[in-house]
Amino acid sequence: MTSEFIHRFVPAKGEGAPPLLLLHGTGGDENDLLQLGAMVSPNSALLSPRGRVLENGMPRFFRRLAEGVFDEDDVRRRALELADFVEVERLRCGIGRPIALGYSNGANIAAAMMLLRPDALAGAALLRAMVPLSDLLRPDLSGVRVLIASGMADPIVPPSNSTRLAAMLQAAGANVSHETLPVGHQLSRADLDLVREWFRTVHTREPAESR
Ligand code: MLT
Repeated sequence: MTSEFIHRFVPAKGEGAPPLLLLHGTGGDENDLLQLGAMVSPNSALLSPRGRVLENGMPRFFRRLAEGVFDEDDVRRRALELADFVEVERLRCGIGRPIALGYSNGANIAAAMMLLRPDALAGAALLRAMVPLSDLLRPDLSGVRVLIASGMADPIVPPSNSTRLAAMLQAAGANVSHETLPVGHQLSRADLDLVREWFRTVHTREPAESR
């Protein structure tokens, strides 16, 4: 199994800020979240892979059978591949365990990574995330900080689904903040403000390498 992904890497501009793993949504690429990442944490190194699955030419991080219906074997396989990639790049670039900043399909693969490879990430900001796997998984995520930002008018993610994801991660020991914004599936200014504020608290309370 290869762990190569087309990606962008931006070295840290200062010291002390944990690296960010940027994970784009369906149809996006490795450039999409670089600006958001730099706004959330200007000093962080940024690692931004492109999803390797193509759906009608649109990059994604795993296959789906329909909107909101995932090919769970593929989710498992791709989440582990991405975790392997992160591990290799961490060594190559000399960075610590990253905090994922994922949007939509990117948030879903980040959630799957946390469930399947709990050591891969130091935390995660999951924007418009859903439950990625129906398995009853109980990884040890104690001390891992997670932000889930849902949209009140999101036509893709029902509130019951994001609430279930929050409960799954909490049951695994993660420290979860679940916020619902007055928006739809698209990212908004409110997401930036929320993630920035959450990141500030994560960063000052718990350096990424303390786990
Ligand atoms: C997914 O397929 O991961 C979710 O439905 C979100 C999306 O990419 O539209």
